[in-house]
Amino acid sequence: MKLLDTALGKATCFLTVVIVVIAAVLHYFDDPASVKYTSMAEDLKTLEGDFRQHNKSCFILGASGETGKMLLQELLGRNIFSKITLIGRRQLSFEDKAYENLLQEVVDFEKLEDYAAAFQGHDVGYCCLGTTKAKVGTEGFIRVDHDYVVKSAELAKAGGCSQFHLESSRGADKNSNFLYLKVKGQVEAEIEALGFDRYAIYRPGVLLVDRQESRPAEWMARKFLGAFSSVFSTSMSIPIQAVAKAMVSNTLLQPEKKAEILEHADITSLWKSAGK
Ligand SMILES: NC(=O)c1ccc[n+]([C@@H]2O[C@H](COP(=O)([O-])OP(=O)(O)OC[C@H]3O[C@@H](n4cnc5c(N)ncnc54)[C@H](OP(=O)(O)O)[C@@H]3O)[C@@H](O)[C@H]2O)c1
Ligand SMILES: *[C@@H]1O[C@H](CO)[C@@H](O)[C@H](O)[C@H]1NC(C)=O
Repeated sequence: MKLLDTALGKATCFLTVVIVVIAAVLHYFDDPASVKYTSMAEDLKTLEGDFRQHNKSCFILGASGETGKMLLQELLGRNIFSKITLIGRRQLSFEDKAYENLLQEVVDFEKLEDYAAAFQGHDVGYCCLGTTKAKVGTEGFIRVDHDYVVKSAELAKAGGCSQFHLESSRGADKNSNFLYLKVKGQVEAEIEALGFDRYAIYRPGVLLVDRQESRPAEWMARKFLGAFSSVFSTSMSIPIQAVAKAMVSNTLLQPEKKAEILEHADITSLWKSAGK
């Protein structure tokens, strides 16, 4: 038994070393842009400072979701808003002191008109709301991903919100034959028609979710696959943190157009250029 243990231990050890080496090599080749963009990370610091001066407020829809959680964390970390309001169907609780100044509005999405006040007086709105057909069926999916999102945007616009940032999806297309992509495309278009001063659509591919708790084996696998994915399939998937960081960085930039679409590759490149 003891012998087997040692042998296994050695094999694991060896494998780990191999994986780390491969991951390191792949990672090394993966980052050609990081030097070129160092200056952008500095620009962002300046932009953050300028933005902060304006005491702006924002709201987040879907802050309990995978992307929303990261977005909230990123917004708190960069501290660019004087006031952050979470709008959701339930009260969320946070342990960390960093979250103590958050405001929360609990609303009934089926009767959103009754909650117009929750959407009043924000400068910027972020939407990471969504569900799946598998969870709630076709009708439920349309209700959440279309109705709730569009209605929220309408109320925000009516409440004086000037910027709206929508997490949509790669392939969103109102003429698509796939329900998911069609609904995403419709929502994009309907919100554009509301005429926000600024409107940003983010279209990430498959979202990679990083677990919070630490599990060494999983961490190893993730590093390994992560390195692979950055070389071979950055074009397919993206970590949720990357989407969150790109959304916040982009908020600070001055776009040429009122409405902009950030495709998967744009999100990835913005994330990397901002110094991850
Ligand atoms: N998964 C992917 O690979 C992928 C790729 C591209 C784009 N997207 C899109 O990106 C968006 C965010 O995805 P995600 O995976 O970060 O989201 P998620 O973890 O599934 O979170 C969804 C959020 O929406 C809220 N929500 C769901 N059903 C609701 C309902 N009936 N009423 C009120 N709130 C509801 C959830 O609140 P509760 O916590 O209260 O449930 C949660 O805050 C979605 O629109 C998704 O379609 C996903
Ligand atoms: C922002 O808030 C600070 C501190 O409360 C205040 O001194 C400053 O004048 C405000 N700036 C704007 C643009 O309202």
